[in-house]
Parts: sequence; structure tokens; C-alpha cells
Amino acid sequence: MSDELKIAVFASGRGSNFEAILKAIQAGTIKGARIVGVISNNSGAGALETAAKNGIPAYHISRRQFEADSDFDSHIVTVLDSLRANFIVLAGYKKRVGPVIISRFRNRIVNIHPALLPEFGGKGMYGEHVHAAVIAAGKRVSGATVHVVDEVYDHGAIVLRKTVPVSPGETPETLAKKVLEIEHELYPEAIRLFAEGKVTISGNTASILP
Ligand code: GRF
Repeated sequence: MSDELKIAVFASGRGSNFEAILKAIQAGTIKGARIVGVISNNSGAGALETAAKNGIPAYHISRRQFEADSDFDSHIVTVLDSLRANFIVLAGYKKRVGPVIISRFRNRIVNIHPALLPEFGGKGMYGEHVHAAVIAAGKRVSGATVHVVDEVYDHGAIVLRKTVPVSPGETPETLAKKVLEIEHELYPEAIRLFAEGKVTISGNTASILP
């Protein structure tokens, strides 16, 4: 794949990963990619503000604005089409991504998870719950994972992982901070690989070309 990545970012919160990716694009570290829009289910999301400041179309699309899941999903698809998006980056998006969107963007949706998948993923494993579980399990190492999104939470092909040590006396808060720092390196790196056409996905396995 060497077509330009036209990225739609989905974010629910502060959007620091979105910002890290945007900065890498603006700095020229990621070539062949553009953020064409930001979608948030939360009108107060920092990500929407960052988008507006950078002249990126920003959309507040909430499930509450629709009767049914299917209406919500098809509205998102309409917006994605109007933006000509061909790639979706989930950056702290706290809503499920509908099956219509997943199959339409098969292998073209990525997420970042604040632990080393396949461990510490799945339902309920978000935010500080993840870090608390890692510490409770006595792990000496944690990290972040960029993975492809499929129909099962935190299940799709793993693209990249990066580790951080879990120090003695670590708390969920201190670990969260350390992991977030490496997320800001890992996510732009993963997007760069996709933009350069270096990621191939076969079934549940992603391979990175040299
Ligand atoms: C990150 O910790 C990420 O791993 C998780 O949600 C958080 C989003 O943070 N999926 P931000 O909104 O990008 O700052």
C-alpha cells in the first residue's frame, strides 16, 4: 500500500496520542499521511479542540443522537466517506466501533493499548484498571501495544509493542505516566510504517517489512 493514508482519528478524551501523531506528521517524520478529520463521542474532548486549532475538521458524534446503533454507525461511515478517509486511528476512543465500520475498514483500523497484549486486554481493561492489574500480577515489565482492530476487544493483529520496566513501589498512576510517554513514540512509529506500506496483515498476524 503506497497510497496516502487519509486518517480519521477517533478520540474520547485529552487526545495526547492524536497530538503526538499530528506532530510527527507536521515535522515530516511521518510522510504520506494526513489527518483528515477527528471524530469524538464526547463534546468536551481535548482532541476536538486540538483538531480545531490545527484546522482539522472535528465532529462530535454521540450515540445519543441516534435511535439505533446502526444509525450511529452509518452516520459515522457517511462522515468518513465525505472526508475520503481510508484509515482509522483510535486514540483513547471509549466507544465500541460498529461492525459495519470494522468490515468496511478491515485491517485499516488501529488502536493503542496501555499494556503488552495479549495480556491485560479485553473488557474492563482500560485506563488505570490495566496498570493496577499489571502491578497486582507482579509483572516486572509492562508497555504499550499498537494493534489492528477487529470485532473482539484488544484482539486484532499486534503491529508493534514497546516495553517499560515496572519499578518496585510503582503505582497505577506512575506506571500510567511511563506507559503514556512510550505510547507517544510507539503510535507515530506504527503510523509511519503503515504510511510507508511496510505493514502486511494476514489473518491475525502483522508483519513489518524491513
Ligand atoms: C491511552 O492510554 C491509550 O493507551 C488508551 O487510551 C489512552 C488515551 O490517551 N487507549 P490520550 O487521549 O491519547 O491522551
